[in-house]
Amino acid sequence: MPRFSLTLVLAFFFFKSYCFGALQYGFYDGKCGSSDVEDIVHGVVNSWCNIDPTRGFDVIDDAKAAVEAVCPGVVSCADIIVMATRDAVSFSGGGTYNVQTGRRDGLVSLASNVDLPPPFISVSDSIAAFAAKGLNVTDMVYLFGGHTVGVAHCSNFQDRLYNFNQTGGPDPAMDSLLLTTLRLRCPQNSSVNNTANLDQGLLSSTVVDTSFHQQRHSSD
Ligand code: HEM
Repeated sequence: MPRFSLTLVLAFFFFKSYCFGALQYGFYDGKCGSSDVEDIVHGVVNSWCNIDPTRGFDVIDDAKAAVEAVCPGVVSCADIIVMATRDAVSFSGGGTYNVQTGRRDGLVSLASNVDLPPPFISVSDSIAAFAAKGLNVTDMVYLFGGHTVGVAHCSNFQDRLYNFNQTGGPDPAMDSLLLTTLRLRCPQNSSVNNTANLDQGLLSSTVVDTSFHQQRHSSD
């Protein structure tokens, strides 16, 4: 075999075995003895959802601790977040799907490196922010569907209820029923920073469905 071809064959097997960049289904199968990593994460998420589905990132810490107890130093937090999200979506009625794993955690975690759009960002600025991350408008609309569950603190939109753009009145573009509902939830000058559901549907605020998008559409 010519030397060039031999090099290619060797390179193929080298990269096939050590291709760290490629995610795959079942990446952890067999890497933790007889323990099933996805099952462990699933169990933690389910017990959290049964106790208090509104709780936050602590569930990731619990899942990480449960996985580390049987399989130390193997499973990344990045993968645990992806698996736990999949299970929370499924628990909330959003259907089931498989996820690829094999991510590595970063070695640096600094708040100063985080670049999140602010709550008051306009649609056009949001499109630009997503584009800067290589995501197009369709990606953005799909991802905004993540707001089908969860809450927003009154402090993040209080100005639109009472003093939009320093006018002393509400945002004129806001639906009047929504305005009334949100004002009840977020009284002016309240000392408590209440929350309001991101999905305003009475029966769907904790369900992963399309109602967030439907509400957006009907308000256009
Ligand atoms: C331009 C992009 C985005 C903006 C400006 C934005 C803005 C916000 C704001 C203001 C809140 C309320 C936070 C609070 O008051 O505690 C929120 C909550 C939330 N967002 Fe977004 N968001 C964006 C993108 C996304 C994406 C891409 C997802 C997921 C795919 C997402 C999922 C969520 C979830 C699940 C919550 C609820 C959190 C909770 O209940 O504690 N958001 N978002």
